[in-house]
Amino acid sequence: MNIVKRCLYGMSILSLVSMNIQCKGEKKEEASAQEATATDSVSIAKKEYGKTEKGVQIDQYTLKNHNGMEVNIITYGGIITSLKVPNKAGKSEEVAIGFNSLEQYQKPNPYFGALIGRYGNRIAKGKFTLDGKEYSLATNNAPNALHGGPEGFHRVVWTAEEAKGGDAATLKLKYVAKDMEEGYPGNLTVFVTYTLSKDNSLDVLYEATTDKKTIVNLTQHSYFNLSGDFTKTILDHEVTIDADKLVPVDATLIPTGELTDVTNTPFDFRKPKKVGAAIEAKDEQLKRGMGYDHCWVLNNQNKGDRFAASAYDPASGRLLEVYTDQPGIQLYTGNFLDGTLPMRNGGTYAHRTGLCLETQHYPDSPNQKDFPTTVLNPGENYKTKTTFKFSVK
Ligand code: GLA
Repeated sequence: MNIVKRCLYGMSILSLVSMNIQCKGEKKEEASAQEATATDSVSIAKKEYGKTEKGVQIDQYTLKNHNGMEVNIITYGGIITSLKVPNKAGKSEEVAIGFNSLEQYQKPNPYFGALIGRYGNRIAKGKFTLDGKEYSLATNNAPNALHGGPEGFHRVVWTAEEAKGGDAATLKLKYVAKDMEEGYPGNLTVFVTYTLSKDNSLDVLYEATTDKKTIVNLTQHSYFNLSGDFTKTILDHEVTIDADKLVPVDATLIPTGELTDVTNTPFDFRKPKKVGAAIEAKDEQLKRGMGYDHCWVLNNQNKGDRFAASAYDPASGRLLEVYTDQPGIQLYTGNFLDGTLPMRNGGTYAHRTGLCLETQHYPDSPNQKDFPTTVLNPGENYKTKTTFKFSVK
């Protein structure tokens, strides 16, 4: 073999070997970052984010389009660590509360940007019954269970199954929760797919299957502050919620079982209203939540994907619209933020500097026979989608 042939031979062997490594590697490898080239396409790039306390590598994926929207997601908790969108002057700024290190995300925090499961929101006294068998969960929000338990889905490592750019950028995350993990029955295989499109929409598609009867209620716990300035509260944000009814709660934030009319209450957001307009009103529900921390019964139930809620910051012109096929949405106004958690570049997150719009089933559904069911049986597919659409006006 002459030297040229030898080189070519060597190179082809090398490429075969590397292809083989790729094929053999976990699906994750397939998912390795692709930078988009076409100017109108949406890119996704991967980099190492850090190592957990147990030494597991965590990756960060950056999804980016050409309209100034950029989203960072890490494989720890499927957390959205950063979300940047333009204001009315075209300036892209951070609008989601977050930290700047994995170390900080591993410390106790109120679910900043995280995926929530197996059951988002509260379950009364951490107990529920399926087919006559009672299950007990950790009462991590005494006396109730909250957001899937101490580790839930927000403090576990997800694997990236697929990461591709193109017309939209897609990151598909997977987590398998074991039978009886956090006290829930059934091995639950969960996929959450984040998709950033050209038009500044972020879709979150949740899918799950189980091998034993279980309960599922998945959601996303990002805190938004559309002003782009986290030293400001969200009290000037104008919120709309397409809901005639509320899920009122008792003193421990467990639904009373009724669904009450919002007319003439501080919970009527059918027309845009400042979050702060009535948040200090003398109202028993507001007192219990220490502000808004409630689930609304969305209108147009069973109509599939529809408009659910919006938040608008007049100063920046940023508008966030939320679309979902879920029956409810929880508006939480950062009532427990207390100036103890660090902002990315100095300072701390003060009271009400972020709001969450968590699409979901109503709290404590497993114990409320009149609420839509959250039971998932083997052979069934749990599938639900929420879209966060950003624009300016
Ligand atoms: C949810 C709950 C709130 C609170 C926050 C995080 O929104 O309903 O009560 O736990 O999460 O602190």
